[in-house]
Amino acid sequence: MTLPATMRAVEITEAGGPDVLRTTERPVPQPGAGEILIRLAYAGVNRPDALQRAGLYAPPSWASDLPGLEGAGEVVAIGPDVSGIAVGDQVCALLPGGGYADYVVTPAAHALPVPEGLSLKEAACLPETFFTVWSNAFMRGGLVSGERFLVHGGSSGIGTTAIQLAAVFGARVFATAGSPEKCAACAALGAERAINYREEDFVEVLRGEGGANLILDMVGGDYLPKNVKALADEGRLVQIAFLKGPKVELNFAQVMMRRLTITGSTLRPQSDLAKARIAEDLRQKVWPLIAAGRVRPVMDSEFPLEDAAAAHARMESSAHVGKIVLKVA
Ligand SMILES: NC(=O)c1ccc[n+]([C@@H]2O[C@H](COP(=O)([O-])OP(=O)(O)OC[C@H]3O[C@@H](n4cnc5c(N)ncnc54)[C@H](OP(=O)(O)O)[C@@H]3O)[C@@H](O)[C@H]2O)c1
Repeated sequence: MTLPATMRAVEITEAGGPDVLRTTERPVPQPGAGEILIRLAYAGVNRPDALQRAGLYAPPSWASDLPGLEGAGEVVAIGPDVSGIAVGDQVCALLPGGGYADYVVTPAAHALPVPEGLSLKEAACLPETFFTVWSNAFMRGGLVSGERFLVHGGSSGIGTTAIQLAAVFGARVFATAGSPEKCAACAALGAERAINYREEDFVEVLRGEGGANLILDMVGGDYLPKNVKALADEGRLVQIAFLKGPKVELNFAQVMMRRLTITGSTLRPQSDLAKARIAEDLRQKVWPLIAAGRVRPVMDSEFPLEDAAAAHARMESSAHVGKIVLKVA
């Protein structure tokens, strides 16, 4: 197959609002050892893309400066030392960056097959949230069947994934969200109790149930001491973002007296090997559940690649429920 020398890409011209995103032309990247080149059909949009655009989340030095952490399409070239994947395969993949483009390079070990029954559009929306939720709630947070699990931002891309995965693995799921409509969406996905945080105190709700065994939080700020109160003895808090800021005063006596664990992680800076391990776990334990129709990406809206700015504006309005996707081809 003859590949073009250049491709369309959306770049961040300077730190700022959605209008700093501009369609441009870039060289088609070449796959190195262990890597594949994917011709993208769709690319998922994630909040970290908007943070990168705003100048608040710099890409690692080794990654593309182009935004885009996930996508789905066809493998069109493979580098040396790649096995188990071939030109012509349809895949969805976690990307080190560069997903807002016609072509992208990523480690072969970070690609997974498009699950049976899913379109490329749906598959493009799986990697970033499934890698993040699986590695934080299950591998790091140790969530098991029967536990009380609270996820904040229940209607977000991360939240809609976390609710479904926790429910399908037998946890009792509680979710917070900012409107009755978003709460209804959380309940429909498997939350036994959706809490409108503008009207109700999630601490009271969880304390009334005996406390949360695990909390997955993206809000931070004043939620940190509230989360500590909402945890059951021996409970775990896994922090994956700080929408309300990372600095807060916290009385750690509670952590000691009630034997709590506070931890967290970000996906992007982790090693290729760590991400490959998450991919393998997902392939074995989660992909069959998607193929069986028990877990699905929740789709909000689609924008053409050239309208990435409108996609970012929708995400930052927080009007969406689930995933926003860019149509690339
Ligand atoms: N650690 C990692 O590796 C990792 C990976 C991916 C994503 N993330 C983080 O996870 C979060 C969700 O990502 P996403 O792509 O799923 O984004 P998203 O769909 O835009 O979700 C963000 C959600 O947070 C809620 N929210 C926004 N500001 C809030 C505030 N001040 N207080 C309470 N809730 C607020 C909004 O829902 P309401 O309308 O209900 O408030 C919104 O739906 C982001 O912060 C992202 O940076 C972390």
